[in-house]
Amino acid sequence: MKALGVLAGLVILSPVLSWAQAQDQRERTATELMEAVMWNKEPVGGPFALTDHTGRRRTDEDFRGKLMLVYFGFSSCPDICPTDLMAMGLALDRMGPAGEAVQPLFITVDPERDTPEQLANYVPNFHPRLMGLTGDAADIRTATSAYRVYYAKAEISGGTSYTVDHSGFIYLMDREGRYLGFFPPRTSAEQMVTVMKPLAAAR
Ligand code: NI
Repeated sequence: MKALGVLAGLVILSPVLSWAQAQDQRERTATELMEAVMWNKEPVGGPFALTDHTGRRRTDEDFRGKLMLVYFGFSSCPDICPTDLMAMGLALDRMGPAGEAVQPLFITVDPERDTPEQLANYVPNFHPRLMGLTGDAADIRTATSAYRVYYAKAEISGGTSYTVDHSGFIYLMDREGRYLGFFPPRTSAEQMVTVMKPLAAAR
């Protein structure tokens, strides 16, 4: 009887495990990931280990004690990335000294082209404290999976170059690295200030 119980347990367990593994490994659709964030279906955020735009190794733990404002994009993005990064930079400026409590991060979804050198040319356009982060494909995948970020390479017609489709939520994390919520793409600097200022003041 006992052996049968163990056997029954195994039969029930194994499909669950393989399903979880499959969830982890397969490509997730843009809609699925958008819904995961919008409806708070899955935890957002988690550990990452990347290289910053000065070539230094960085992990999420380096930013404990600060709020993290996290954006995923790529430096040759023609439109949405610069707009949202500009709003982030402007918001931090407008917060004055209180803005020091916030660490803005730009994590690339195009590590092939976004080397530390490339990011070093790019991030200062938006804010002096904006940190660009890159890594190998697997390290970037770890970060994007944790934040439920969708991204996919798309050929530009003509075939010589590519762009990267990506989701554009701007994530706000607390001083322990826990997820607080997201700003949707195109949130204005004023709105970010309204949300972040009380959080930056509270200790
Ligand atoms: Ni973009």
